[in-house]
Parts: sequence; structure tokens; C-alpha cells
Amino acid sequence: MIRAILRSISFLFISLGQTAIVPLPSSTGPCDVTLHASELVDMSRTDPYDPRGGQRSIMVTTFTPVNCGSVHSTSYIPNATARYEDESFQSSGIPLGTFESLHIQTQTQQQPPHFRPHGDYPVVLFSPAVSTSRLMYTLLLQEIASNGFAVVSVDHPYDADIVEYPNGRTVLGVLANITTETEFVSALNVRVKDMLFLLDQMHDEKVIRNLFPLSQGSSHLLSLDRVTILGHSLGGATAAQTMLVDNRFVGGINLDGSLWGPVVEKGLSSPFLLFGHTNHTQASESSWAIFWSHLRGWKLELELAQSEHYTFSDFPVLVDALSVSDEVRQFIQAARIGTIGGLRAKDVITSYTIATLHIS
Ligand SMILES: *[C@@H]1O[C@H](CO)[C@@H](O)[C@H](O)[C@H]1NC(C)=O
Ligand SMILES: *[C@@H]1O[C@H](CO)[C@@H](O)[C@H](O)[C@H]1NC(C)=O
Ligand SMILES: *[C@@H]1O[C@H](CO)[C@@H](O)[C@H](O)[C@H]1NC(C)=O
Repeated sequence: MIRAILRSISFLFISLGQTAIVPLPSSTGPCDVTLHASELVDMSRTDPYDPRGGQRSIMVTTFTPVNCGSVHSTSYIPNATARYEDESFQSSGIPLGTFESLHIQTQTQQQPPHFRPHGDYPVVLFSPAVSTSRLMYTLLLQEIASNGFAVVSVDHPYDADIVEYPNGRTVLGVLANITTETEFVSALNVRVKDMLFLLDQMHDEKVIRNLFPLSQGSSHLLSLDRVTILGHSLGGATAAQTMLVDNRFVGGINLDGSLWGPVVEKGLSSPFLLFGHTNHTQASESSWAIFWSHLRGWKLELELAQSEHYTFSDFPVLVDALSVSDEVRQFIQAARIGTIGGLRAKDVITSYTIATLHIS
């Protein structure tokens, strides 16, 4: 979605050398965080979008809090995804190599064995916006994990713009231009099944050992009676609808997503946060007004000043890190990320998200 907007203008990013490494801000919470990407194949489901009728296979990244160890640098996104995003954004003036040059400070899996996580971390499952990679939320989710939550982000294949599997295979999105209610509800239903599959998998100890390599030295890494669901845009709608069909979730958060499906009329009894960009409120969004009137538990609606739809992603921090020209910055701010600023946006969004997770 952001790509279509960015393509429609011409401007120049300040050129970055192909080999320059752009450091991204680290998380600020009390824990360090390890990241681990895995593929999960649902043997019980055929992928409804796969022309060859293969099994539904999602990619997930786990963010595990750890309290000590040395900090390493790792690439923000893997190679095929970086190349794809570079080519997609190139017509907007972003030089080739930009995404490959983005690095975050994080811990790697090569920890000395005595560095162990504390465990009993509440779990947060994350679902991204339509046509947007889960990797574009890495900094936000790392910040949440650094406050003591085990976070798992999900790519919904054929819905995300690109999904890159561990063997290098890629699946491109086909939903970038959906507009009708039927299309959104159909995408929503596939996403809900992905989230339920993931939650089921998290009760399988063998899967947990693969998703969270650090769990091998800590038998109680996760607190599976405290699982919340968080999402941006259609991912926020996914959070609400998934909670309706499965009462194992103790709370949910919708970052700026229009709501779809039966949950709008049926509501929820667990804690729920609606967090909108400027002027995206119950007054402007009827699905929010109807849903709000059917929320029976703790609820809060927030409106983020000086923000736009993609403020609720890593884009504001990435744009700041890339030191773009004023002209480019102003256009992207107006169209997508607002003027709030990357670090301020990350701080406000994660602070309210973490506070809500503590209530759930
Ligand atoms: C990704 O690209 C870098 C730089 O070209 C290379 O050093 C690295 O081996 C590649 N990684 C994989 C997994 O192919
Ligand atoms: C969405 O529409 C644009 C413009 O018509 C087109 O270039 C692009 O390929 C479409 N994307 C998908 C995934 O259908
Ligand atoms: C929000 O809505 C008000 C009232 O309709 C309008 O004056 C204002 O310009 C809007 N702000 C933004 C950022 O769109």
C-alpha cells in the first residue's frame, strides 16, 4: 500500500553507498531481545491462494527477552526481501542497497550458555497490515519484547507483499489492491485461521523449542495463559475477530485498522484498545463506533496526534534514519507517517501498547 503511494511521486533520497550500514535505534526496555525466524506449515489446511494447492505455510519471527550478553548487529530484513523492497522503492528515488544497508542492534543466538532468559513471559501475537511484511514492524516489536514480552510476528502469505522462507523461496502478495467488503472479509478469515494455527502450535513443546531456541534451557519461557493479540490495520481487525472465535486470548489491540466480520456487532468481553491515527476515531469510522458499543470489558480509544496510518509501523523511524531530503520527508509525512517523528511515535505507541498488555 505504501509502495503505491510512494511510486506516484518522484523525488530523491540522499544517496547511500551500497556498503554503508545504517544503524537503527535499539530498544529501550530493561531486557535485550533475540530474534529468530521460522516457517510453520499447517498440514491441515490447503493454501486458498496457492495456484498449486500447497499446504498453508506461514513465516513467523519470535522476539525473546534476555537480560544479559553482548549486543551484536544483525540485518533488518533478509536478502531476497531487501532486494525486493529496494526494487519496489527504487522508482521513488531510494537507491538500490538501502534496505540491505539497514541494521539493528540486537543479540544473536550465539549466546554463551549461561546467559538465560528469565521466563514466564506473557505472549503477544502480531498481525501486520495488508500487503506489508511483518519485518516492517521489527523495531516496534523489539521494543515491546525488551519490556518482558515474548512477541511472535506473522506473515500471511499471498497477503504480505513478500514472504521469504528459510530456503530462499519467496511468495509475492496478491491482495495489494483489494477494496470490497467481500475481499477484506475473505482475507480476514484466512488471517484468523493463521493466528489460531499459530496459537495451537505454541502449545506444542517441540515447536516451541524451534521457534524460541532459548527455551531449551528454560522450561517455563512462555506464560501461555497470558496470550494477547496485536495488529496494525487489517491486522488490528484480525486481532478483534480472532478473539471472538477463540477465548484463549486475554486481550487485544487494534492499531488503526477498520474492523470487519461478526466481531463488529458481537463485541468482546476481554480488554481491548483502539488506537487510531489523527481523525481516525469512532466519529469518522462506523465500524469502531458499533464495535465500541459492544465492548463489555476494559476498553480505551486513543487518537495519536500528528500521525497517519503508517505511523503504526517502523516507517517513521526508517525515514528518520535514512536522512531524506525535506521534500521527500514532507511528502511521506503528509501521505503516510505524519509529523510526530520516528522515536516519539515509537515511544508513544509502545508505551500505551505495553500498558494495555499489563492490564490484560
Ligand atoms: C546476504 O547478502 C550478504 C551480502 O551480499 C551475504 O554476505 C550473505 O551471505 C547473504 N546471506 C544469505 C543467507 O544468502
Ligand atoms: C495493484 O495495482 C497496481 C496499479 O494498477 C499494479 O501495478 C499492481 O501490480 C497491483 N498489485 C497487485 C498485487 O495486484
Ligand atoms: C481533522 O478533522 C478536522 C475537522 O474535520 C479538520 O479540521 C482537520 O484538518 C483534520 N486534521 C487532519 C490532520 O486531517
